[in-house]
Amino acid sequence: MTRAADLAAIIKDRAGHDPVRLGLVLGSGLGHIAGQVDGVAIPYADLSGFPHAGVSGHTPNLVIGTLEGVRVAVFGGRAHYYESGDPAAMRLPLEVLKALGAEALVLTNAAGSLRADMPTGSVMLLSDHINFSGLNPLIGEPTDARFVPMTDAHDPGLRMGLRDAAAAEGVHLHEGVYAWYSGPSFETPAEIRAIRTLGADAVGMSTVPEVILARFLGLRVAAVSVLTNMAAGLSAESISHEHTKAMAPLGAAKLERVLRRMLRDSA
Ligand code: HPA
Repeated sequence: MTRAADLAAIIKDRAGHDPVRLGLVLGSGLGHIAGQVDGVAIPYADLSGFPHAGVSGHTPNLVIGTLEGVRVAVFGGRAHYYESGDPAAMRLPLEVLKALGAEALVLTNAAGSLRADMPTGSVMLLSDHINFSGLNPLIGEPTDARFVPMTDAHDPGLRMGLRDAAAAEGVHLHEGVYAWYSGPSFETPAEIRAIRTLGADAVGMSTVPEVILARFLGLRVAAVSVLTNMAAGLSAESISHEHTKAMAPLGAAKLERVLRRMLRDSA
């Protein structure tokens, strides 16, 4: 058996064998929803090869259970490229998600806003992304499967479901392009001006490698950002990880309503 199949077997022993329908990866400060799943929490430490997810603001548990009538796998912490230098750090968890039966994945993150009409506390559905890091989690993958098309990488059907859910909840869901910057230092104002010129609406340190990996694995994927600050140089607001964690709950409540409604309407 593959490593992912081994881990999926361990997870099924603990959480039951019903197939998971949807995976959810929770970004910094967005962990609250994991506690609402009726199911079993498995610490990453029990899953050999899972990341340590050592960033404060993340809880490193995999929660398998039911939320709004849908069987989900919620990843309470993600591995970022900047922790290890490995852009494929989330490959094994996503392979496990696939082995648990999931066909779709929703990624969430905290991000900086490049748009004045998207202030702190806004939520943004990713219409597309720019891989500003130049890194790729599929470098070294030996098969032709590495040549993943990225047109409509952000799944039109899932995006429609999220849009409809937001409308039903009365939540203003912005849409825009997310640029992946490697981190862990924040961007300079000049870098923000550069990516704004290139077409970015938001900037963050995650998500893009997971979108690439999800498409590689044949998972439909969509992503939502919670804007925790204006990006560097765009306001007098301070930018720090502390600030990100403090501001995340503003948008997290909206995000949670949208996600729960999307699940309920798809149950
Ligand atoms: N830049 C990068 N990542 C972020 C930011 C930012 O401004 N805010 C939250 N995550």
